[in-house]
Amino acid sequence: MDPRVKVERRRAVALITLDNPPVNALSRGIAGAVIEAVKAAEADPALSAIVLTGAGKSFTGGADIREFGETPDPNEPDLRAMIRALEGAKKPVVAALRGNVLGGGLETALGCHWRLGTPEARYGFPEVKIGLLPGAGGTQRAPRLIGVAPALELCLSGEFIDSKRALSLGLIDREVAGDLLEEAVAWAAAKGGKADGVRRVRDMRVDTSGLAPGFFAAERAKLAAKTRGLMSPALIVDCLEIATQTPIDEGLARERDLFEQCRTSPQSRALIHVFFAERAAGKVKGVGPDTPAREIARAGVVGAGTMGGGIAMCFASAGIPVTLVEANEDALAHGLATIHKNYERSRLRGRLSEGEMHQRLARIAGSTALESLRDADVVIEAVFEELALKQEIFRKLGALCRKDAILATNTSTLDVDAIAAVTSRPERVVGTHFFSPANVMRLLETVRGAQTSPETLAAVLKLGRRIGKLPVVVGVCDGFVGNRMLYPYLRQAYFLIEEGALPEEVDRALVDFGLAMGPFAMNDLAGLDVGYRVRKAQAATRPKNWRYARLPDKLVEAGRFGQKNGRGWYRYEVACREPKPDAEVRDLILAESAALGIERRKVGEAEIIERCLFALINEGAKILEEGIAERASDIDLIWINGYGLPAWRGGPMFYADTLGLERVNGAVARYDEQFGEWWAPAPLLKRLTEAGKRFNG
Ligand code: 3HC
Ligand code: NAI
Repeated sequence: MDPRVKVERRRAVALITLDNPPVNALSRGIAGAVIEAVKAAEADPALSAIVLTGAGKSFTGGADIREFGETPDPNEPDLRAMIRALEGAKKPVVAALRGNVLGGGLETALGCHWRLGTPEARYGFPEVKIGLLPGAGGTQRAPRLIGVAPALELCLSGEFIDSKRALSLGLIDREVAGDLLEEAVAWAAAKGGKADGVRRVRDMRVDTSGLAPGFFAAERAKLAAKTRGLMSPALIVDCLEIATQTPIDEGLARERDLFEQCRTSPQSRALIHVFFAERAAGKVKGVGPDTPAREIARAGVVGAGTMGGGIAMCFASAGIPVTLVEANEDALAHGLATIHKNYERSRLRGRLSEGEMHQRLARIAGSTALESLRDADVVIEAVFEELALKQEIFRKLGALCRKDAILATNTSTLDVDAIAAVTSRPERVVGTHFFSPANVMRLLETVRGAQTSPETLAAVLKLGRRIGKLPVVVGVCDGFVGNRMLYPYLRQAYFLIEEGALPEEVDRALVDFGLAMGPFAMNDLAGLDVGYRVRKAQAATRPKNWRYARLPDKLVEAGRFGQKNGRGWYRYEVACREPKPDAEVRDLILAESAALGIERRKVGEAEIIERCLFALINEGAKILEEGIAERASDIDLIWINGYGLPAWRGGPMFYADTLGLERVNGAVARYDEQFGEWWAPAPLLKRLTEAGKRFNG
């Protein structure tokens, strides 16, 4: 017997335990072993029933995601065969559920005749998050057991539900507060030999009586905007509709076909890459499971502007008291009022109760004295982007904060080491680069300075996760990973409009590719003055005589600052965020092309995508080679979570892998020949191509 499936006898019941740490994934070989155990229990006259459970903390987290890239062996029993065996058993089969009951795990439970679970158990179909649909009967059995609408919601959202909700839906038969296995065995024994001991979900009828006419069409219409570019959500709706129209065996066969379509799709591979990338990002060189990561009980934030206010909200929302320090009373009052307004908006949208809103607000104290940060465990500085100002603040914080306090800067471009150097504790200084709006965006670029200690990093990683962020560790350089890659991407967008494209054409091509927003609309949202200041600061180090796009500066100098004053690359009507092409901008662009002596030409979508993304990828390769990012997948996460690249493309480096590095390298070399300068190929890209390798593993 496979050691990952254990069988023991309790009273007259066979207890089958899945034991495949850490999450009892249903890896290859397990299905066959469970089938064997079920058959043996059925054949043993001394046994009247079967209980199926999971060892450790969970029932099972579902199918083994690592195996989805492999071709299944048709001679090996799979998860579906296992569920058929459990469901088809003539003796009652009880699922004893705890911890995670997810995906194929929940489908397995639905194949059992009865389901008992502990109060902390959680249930869900997260397949949609990795580009799949429940493919072992979930879309056919769930609607039979709990109804079409709740089943659709479970499959489409990918969210977990708790035990109380599972009980109220009828997903489980009983919640067990005491000894789960004792009760499950007793339940099974009581059902054994009874006429109604076996109750199969497959025999239940799908109740469509409560469904509004046009229910599925309405669901499809809702999906279109929410899941742009994704293929599995629409197929999930198809599966649920099939469940209402066909006998179960036909439904199961069609579900399997649609599942296979998803499993073999590039987008599922990309989303699975992202799943593992997120777990890998938590593993940082020099930081081990034994590295002490101090708890953060009190936080401080300096600067209550756009970023500081949002960062303070992150702490308050996670239950951590925070003191917000501003330069003067007016700025403080303004910052606090903005926070209040933001929470109020969430409350009005029903995302926050009034009580919770007041609790969060009560966790934020305001001050104009840095001394009020004396007791903080961590202080995050978010004042203007000026090195001298930041150094002055760090000098003061270094002198007044507790010796063991962590001092972090939210700088988006400045040298974290130069900031750390003015304190006498550079090992406790780190960059925490939040993204705007800080209370919403998930990415936290965690900048490791030359002297940042492993303990400081461990504490910031833990804190980041506690406040709901995805921390990704990067090294010090201008713009770190995300913004450094943004420069070449934007540069190509600017060159393209000099050569013949218009902003709306560039944006459309990249949005069609899957980006949340094109570069010009994004510029307008961030404020054109922001990039203007960055370019001025970079002027001294920019290679002289290299091609430089002047248009972005000309726009700012013409008083176009983006959405904030209704005029940027686009024009915006009052209180409207929809970008409208502007004839004035078009004239500026045409005049610039003429001034440069460029004969404008038609620029196609393919060229737009290639030039913008390959420039980005080439820079990513340089970043990887310099060790600024530890692994290619970290870069992928940064661009997905901070810059709106769709997860289903897997990130820029994964996208390059998908295309094949040969193609990317070839194009970069071609552009280098044509344009030179900014297109210098990254040596790593060249080396990997020659070795037939990929960025990601
Ligand atoms: N397959 C393979 N490995 C898995 C796995 C799975 N289904 N689920 C988790 N793991 C691995 C993780 O990669 C991680 O490995 P590492 O230690 O080497 O980094 C380890 O298990 C622990 O995972 P987490 O760090 O995520 O642990 P948490 O306790 O935070 O979360 C979890 C546990 C909620 C189960 C989370 O891991 C999760 O969401 N897993 C994915 C669940 C899922 O998507 N299931 C559906 C699979 S598809 C399916 O079943 C198809 C079917 O319909 C046919
Ligand atoms: P902001 O201008 O909105 O806010 C800065 C605040 O700092 C102001 O309210 C100002 O009064 C305050 N301040 C200035 N000197 C101070 C002092 N001595 N003591 C206390 N408060 C002081 O700027 P924003 O956009 O919030 O940026 C802050 C930092 O975050 C900068 O380093 C910026 O580069 C970085 N950042 C900004 C992002 C953005 O999208 N705005 C994104 C990521 C990082």
